[in-house]
Amino acid sequence: MTGLVVAMDGPSGSGKSSVSRGVARALGLRYLDTGAMYRAMTWWMLRQGVDLADPGAIAARCGEPLIVSGTDPDSPAIHVDEVDVAGPIREADVTGSVSVVAAVPEVRARLVARQREIIGAGGIVVEGRDIGTVVCPGAAVKIYLTASAEARALRRSAELAGSTARAQQEAMARRDTLDSTRKADPLSMADGAVELDTTAMRLDEVIAEVLRLVAEQTGPG
Ligand code: DC
Repeated sequence: MTGLVVAMDGPSGSGKSSVSRGVARALGLRYLDTGAMYRAMTWWMLRQGVDLADPGAIAARCGEPLIVSGTDPDSPAIHVDEVDVAGPIREADVTGSVSVVAAVPEVRARLVARQREIIGAGGIVVEGRDIGTVVCPGAAVKIYLTASAEARALRRSAELAGSTARAQQEAMARRDTLDSTRKADPLSMADGAVELDTTAMRLDEVIAEVLRLVAEQTGPG
């Protein structure tokens, strides 16, 4: 499996993280959560008091933080300037601002370069929004995960205590619109990607289907 890159793209709540980690574990591959890197950049910007209404200010500062992402599917780690931010990057303030930061081309250029370094020679499952289109268009297996808006909101509200499915659905719809309509590398399905609608599928079924697609692409004949 050295050399193999599995690109896993799709909107929030489509199951990318659980599926990617499950596939990486099953195949003994590394795992990279690129969304965590955009979140880490956002966490740093908020802490520094950068004016997020000003893309120029975001662009000017985005080279400063050192963002280091682990690749173990059993314990995904993310540090900014050696501070463990795995918890804080999931807080509401970061989630509410990350689409704005991720829309800035200079941020994307910097993080995409870092992601390509980590991907290196492959042997990795990479999840995000632009993996099959921009970060790694040569990936042997490209998956585009979708699910109905209701199913995605329900999954997210089950993860976040105190959040109703309805509030989640509204917040996610706003974020998905920003992520899909931005000028720089918007969320879209890559050429050659296989679309998997997970609305009515259990996690183990989705993982099994991705493993089947990987075997189809990489097996003999
Ligand atoms: O997958 P996530 O919710 O952790 O992603 C956080 C945000 O980062 C999301 O709003 C879109 C953005 N993102 C991106 O623009 N490109 C990626 N490859 C991954 C995430």
